[in-house]
Amino acid sequence: MIFKTLSPAPPDAIMGLTEAFKKDPNPQKINLGVGVYQDDTGVTPIMECVKEAERRILVSEKTKSYLSIGGAPEYRAHMQKLMFGVDHPVLRDDRARTAHTPGGTGALRIGALFLKQVCPEATVWMSTPTWANHPGIFTATGYKQAAYPYYCAETQGLDYEAMRDALKKVPAGDVVLMHVCCHNPSGIDLSDEQWREIAGIAADRGWIPFLDFAYQGLGDDLERDRVGLLRMAEAVPELFVAHSCSKNFGLYRERTGSLTVMASTTSAAEPAFSHVEKTVRVTYSNPPAHGGLIVTTILDDAALRGQWEQEVVGIRDRIKGVRTALVRKLAEQGVARDFSFIERQRGMFSFSGLTDEQVAFLREKKSIYIVKGGRINVAGITSANIDYLCESIAEVLKPEP
Ligand code: LMR
Repeated sequence: MIFKTLSPAPPDAIMGLTEAFKKDPNPQKINLGVGVYQDDTGVTPIMECVKEAERRILVSEKTKSYLSIGGAPEYRAHMQKLMFGVDHPVLRDDRARTAHTPGGTGALRIGALFLKQVCPEATVWMSTPTWANHPGIFTATGYKQAAYPYYCAETQGLDYEAMRDALKKVPAGDVVLMHVCCHNPSGIDLSDEQWREIAGIAADRGWIPFLDFAYQGLGDDLERDRVGLLRMAEAVPELFVAHSCSKNFGLYRERTGSLTVMASTTSAAEPAFSHVEKTVRVTYSNPPAHGGLIVTTILDDAALRGQWEQEVVGIRDRIKGVRTALVRKLAEQGVARDFSFIERQRGMFSFSGLTDEQVAFLREKKSIYIVKGGRINVAGITSANIDYLCESIAEVLKPEP
């Protein structure tokens, strides 16, 4: 017997919080854990453009037969244009190949499995801190891991010099995982200039960038958020991109992501992608169709596409508004600490600076759920819960009498 000997696996650092939140009977409870957008009424809405696309699909869809291993060609072409921009030289030269994957997590996992086959001795380098699921994905693949500095707690900003110096020492052939925009969990991104310099280091050293691009459109806008990818694509011959439509199309449970391999030539892209397809085939065979069909329906139609872009602006603006309100309300509560850095962070998350003890207190005594390390999902804050949240944070920060 094997099951009887097993002790339970620890709860997931992010998804586990939602499970605990659901069971909490406190009517004032707030879930600021998982990165899922909510509107000001606390609902994760289906975008209007998504609803309209689904209506059209219901009428026009003709089959539920399998997709090809890499997914529908239309979706894959749209993803390349969304990520690189229409008419990018990499696309013109046909150097990229994209597979529709079940979410960004599926893309990371397929990329990791592929890498384990082609360069099994390489180490993957991750920022300190990084998304809580990154180490697990690469551990599950048997990858060696190392860390490079990223966030500076003192300045609540990027530890740029330390990061740059560490990346200068990464050996050729190793893999460096980077967040293209809206760094998860810190909300701190590189500037265009900094991306340029890091891309130059990648090219000089010969390490391979693996870009996690899960929040396109939630930082500045769809174009400016891709600057990290563009700088890397200009500088290096090969890279990976794990992209997600979970947040910018609100398609979380439809598992709509993609893995792109960019090769130095079109003839190198072809065999590389055949290995990606082999990996997909033995992992989940071929992707789920519905999310990709929704995205394709929206991006194929000028009016729906325009509506989608407006809805992304709405999400981004609400999150920015919440950041401002949070800083103001904390000050109104008499919190002495300067929280203005929250307004400088980008995307869904704010690295609040709360300690693990304070996070535990807020969960146990106030039913406020925050990821260990102090990451707050700003999009979970609403007009109805912001006062209770700020009072509770003020209480936890109160100096000892
Ligand atoms: C998050 O970081 O909360 C999201 O990316 C959701 C997840 O899968 O963890």
